[in-house]
Amino acid sequence: MSGCKLTARVSGVGKALPERRLTNADLEKMVDTSDEWISQRVGIKERRIAAEGEYTSHLASRAAADALKMSGLKAEEIDLILVGTSTPDMVYPSVACQVQKALGAVNAGVLDISAACTGFIYGASLAWGMIKAGCMRNVLVIGSEVNSSVVNWKDRDTCILFGDGAGAAIFSAHESETEGVLSIKLGGDGNFDELLYLTNSGCRPFPDVAGRYIMMQGNEVFKQAVRNMYECAINVLEGAGLTAADVSLLIPHQANTRIIGAVAKRLGLPDEKVFVNIADYGNTSAATIPIALCEALEQGRLKKGDVLVIDAFGAGLTFGAMAIRWT
Ligand code: ACO
Repeated sequence: MSGCKLTARVSGVGKALPERRLTNADLEKMVDTSDEWISQRVGIKERRIAAEGEYTSHLASRAAADALKMSGLKAEEIDLILVGTSTPDMVYPSVACQVQKALGAVNAGVLDISAACTGFIYGASLAWGMIKAGCMRNVLVIGSEVNSSVVNWKDRDTCILFGDGAGAAIFSAHESETEGVLSIKLGGDGNFDELLYLTNSGCRPFPDVAGRYIMMQGNEVFKQAVRNMYECAINVLEGAGLTAADVSLLIPHQANTRIIGAVAKRLGLPDEKVFVNIADYGNTSAATIPIALCEALEQGRLKKGDVLVIDAFGAGLTFGAMAIRWT
């Protein structure tokens, strides 16, 4: 197919979720909250919690192994492993390094990405860039988190929101004028660094907080999320010469059903074109989009020719989206 443009397509996906379920009823026994409040305000019913000794790298490696199997590639054919995570096993070696070891991906470069909940889209965008530039053929992109390790289980404002899990996708070189990744948008705004942050997670001390915890101004994050996710989606659609009417499926970051609903409404998308699985897993940060992508495929909600938009926001602030014509 000479003369065609070099782009990337998704050649395999996988997911890994811890077995243990933490339901809203369980949380009612831990903090002053209710199933009704959580269901109505956020849309979560339960979330998965990693077992003792089950780390981000373990979930990432399981999801990656599934993606590799689906792609039919050998581990040695992976050129780069990118892991979006805010809860690595440790700062170094990276989670990507641990995944490389687990898979035997001996020819892969390895890098963790710190972009909070937008980590998977940042990784996917870098994967596309490397492939488009002709430097690489197969890039494994993972979002993996053990959020339960950084949740303050006494803080009802945040502890009800998060869950653990991992999702993976392999981006492979594809020659096509019309299919595969069409456009990306990455963004950030460090002016809003106070809205969402992780205490005691680096060299900066937090003398007033005795632990490594997620701190959040929920209302403000909510507003920023809706605005930036909407703008990112419009941006990638325009970049691909499309409009919201062309979208077959939107996979948004799963942080709150009301955020997802507000973005979908502004885009004019009906419910059946928006993938939502937050009820089952809560907010798994960088993992929500690849887990959802995996489940959308399992449910037959993506077919050849469909226009998929993935769209996320996170601490930083970070935000980003990607438009893909599925093949
Ligand atoms: N159970 C019961 N009541 C609660 C709970 C709870 N778990 N949490 C808060 N409340 C109470 C509050 O105390 C408040 O009570 P008051 O009216 O007596 O003061 C009331 O409920 C309303 O609180 P709000 O904060 O105004 O509730 P809101 O509708 O904004 O919902 C929420 C809060 C769910 C956090 C929402 O703002 C949200 O989803 N924000 C975005 C969160 C998010 O996406 N975070 C991103 C993480 S991504 C990353 O990068 C890590």
